[in-house]
Amino acid sequence: MSSRLSILYDTIRWEEKALFDAAKTKGVDAKMVDCKNLFVNLDKSKEDFGTVIQRCVSYYRSLHSTAALEGKEVNVINSLNTSIFAGNKLFTHMLLVKHGIPTPFSAVAFSEDAALGLLEKRGYPMVLKPTIGSWGRMIALLKDRDSAQGIMETRERMYPIYQVYYLEEFVNRPPRDIRAIMIEDRVVAAIYRYSGDGQWKTNMALGGRAEECKITKELEDVCVKAKNAVQGQIVGIDLMESKEKGLVVHEINNTTEYKNTVRVTGVDIPALMIDYAIKSRK
Ligand SMILES: Nc1ncnc2c1ncn2[C@@H]1O[C@H](COP(=O)(O)OP(=O)(O)O)[C@@H](O)[C@H]1O
Ligand SMILES: [Mg+2]
Repeated sequence: MSSRLSILYDTIRWEEKALFDAAKTKGVDAKMVDCKNLFVNLDKSKEDFGTVIQRCVSYYRSLHSTAALEGKEVNVINSLNTSIFAGNKLFTHMLLVKHGIPTPFSAVAFSEDAALGLLEKRGYPMVLKPTIGSWGRMIALLKDRDSAQGIMETRERMYPIYQVYYLEEFVNRPPRDIRAIMIEDRVVAAIYRYSGDGQWKTNMALGGRAEECKITKELEDVCVKAKNAVQGQIVGIDLMESKEKGLVVHEINNTTEYKNTVRVTGVDIPALMIDYAIKSRK
């Protein structure tokens, strides 16, 4: 018998468990599908997943399982396009710029020398980010030529994606950012994330602290535009409050975590996600 809904995962976090529980509470026929046990025939045969909520942590596993299933006409949330666009900070940035959404100044260089040249021209500090990644990992604040050279030298020995030098202005902001959870056309909940002791990054994975953030019209407007720019359905939008530019979007998460947002705001995000997934069935 085919399920109406599948939660595709590779690690069960609070989020995946809460989704499954929400489906059960609503009487929705849902199953948990471990992507690590999955094989998919890449032909025109029918698949039995119902709507798939893509929750894999691994970037490549998530992207490729979405491509395989969506290619076989399975309804996957978020779509392949969104996974491609939002999964890469440079791709996201270009779409934000194209759609006129405020975002930090960014530039890209394709060798260590070119990146150093860019930094000399633009001035320190700047933030160096891998174009693919999360939890604040490998994001470095380059304060001067010495530290920049040291950090980039180690990147030169890594997988080629780390030799794409994506640099952002260091945004002049309070010691917090905003995480807004969007489902369809609505910001359903938002939090401020304050950086932990001795940290400048505000990721909860790095010991950040969360507080409820009021959803203003300004916040909602920027988030709707950002979500549309990446063709998203359920996304977590990261913004900063730039002292010069106002709200700027710096990241869109296509398999967003929301445990702390639920804890702090009391909004039942998993239940809203299930409602949307059922409604979006093709
Ligand atoms: N340009 C920037 N200026 C100041 N702080 C930044 C900048 N970019 C990111 N940060 C901080 O670092 C955190 C992680 O950056 P982000 O781009 O969201 O990457 P990740 O995918 O690892 O979460 C942000 O939540 C924010 O606190
Ligand atoms: Mg982030």
